[in-house]
Amino acid sequence: MRMSAKMIIGLSLLSGLAVTYPAFAEGDADKGKKVFAKCMACHTIEEEKNRVGPHLVNILDRKTATVEGFKYSPAMIKAGEEGMVWDEATLTSYLTAPKQFIPGNKMIFVGLKKPEDISNLIAYIRSKSAQ
Ligand code: HEC
Repeated sequence: MRMSAKMIIGLSLLSGLAVTYPAFAEGDADKGKKVFAKCMACHTIEEEKNRVGPHLVNILDRKTATVEGFKYSPAMIKAGEEGMVWDEATLTSYLTAPKQFIPGNKMIFVGLKKPEDISNLIAYIRSKSAQ
């Protein structure tokens, strides 16, 4: 089969889009930055410095409770020992209802009720992570 010029243009447009928007399609990092304001009392994602909570630099794909020098609760340490890793799924569950997802953890945060706040927040966290 010969490809028409139209098809070729269509295909290259499609692949162009795929390159420009890798995994960001679901969330809006700019909106997520505003959501992150709720975390900033206790966390920074700009530098490897612990506050009330551990820093969140490169949090995606990191094993739970492994930031050096932070004193985690036994519940959080246990979750890490059982193999929990922070990815979209675990972050979404944790940030929706921290106390229910990891009972006994010491993060005092009620949770984000709106799913779009969480997907935007994860897009922001992703934009801050090493590529
Ligand atoms: C009142 C302070 C506070 C707020 C607000 C807060 N956190 Fe936390 N966060 C903590 C503490 C303390 C821990 C450690 C919990 C433990 O050890 O049980 C933690 C742990 C975490 C962890 C696990 C980190 C790791 O190294 O395993 C993530 C992820 C996280 N917080 C994300 C967030 C996000 C995103 C927000 C905003 C939506 C937020 N937190 C809001 C205090 C806070």
